[in-house]
Amino acid sequence: MRTISKCISIVSIAIAASLGAAQADDDPIGDRQAIMSSVGAAAGLGGGLMKGEIAYSPAAGKAAIAAMRAASLTFGDYFPNGSNTGDTEAAPAIWDNRAGFDAEIAKFAAATGTAMEAAGRAGPADLDAFKAAMGPVFGTCKSCHEGFRVKN
Ligand code: HEC
Repeated sequence: MRTISKCISIVSIAIAASLGAAQADDDPIGDRQAIMSSVGAAAGLGGGLMKGEIAYSPAAGKAAIAAMRAASLTFGDYFPNGSNTGDTEAAPAIWDNRAGFDAEIAKFAAATGTAMEAAGRAGPADLDAFKAAMGPVFGTCKSCHEGFRVKN
């Protein structure tokens, strides 16, 4: 239980950090990286649950899905013109092919929306239900990173 609540609080802190950062738009690179960090934290929680490293509970499953949902709805707002250079892994393709990037954001948002519906209020009832809900969300990481993120 301690591990679960620790993971949930890390995810909550990450969400709070990204929402707090979202109010100041003088640092879009830092803001979008904070949002993606919350995605990384939620992926850590979700992956830990799937592998059985963290005992499953519906609340833990819901926390991971809700963090993904929040990120998918906000991330795309932090790529203004001029934020393509600096300490960022955002690929030039984001600005050269904005429609393609927006399509990846839309896939991410659609997957998290479906997962939220499947989760219901209390969260996915068991690990199989969680895997079914979260699996498609994990499927969206790779295609966006391949096309729109460079590894520094
Ligand atoms: C719509 C595109 C997109 C999707 C979907 C996406 N990412 Fe990212 N991700 C990015 C981009 C772009 C960056 C680089 C941002 C920057 O450095 O400005 C990034 C950066 C990251 C980072 C580094 C954050 C940091 O601290 O700088 C992590 C971790 C990450 N992504 C994990 C994930 C995981 C896990 C998923 C799937 C659940 C995912 N991402 C889905 C586009 C995406």
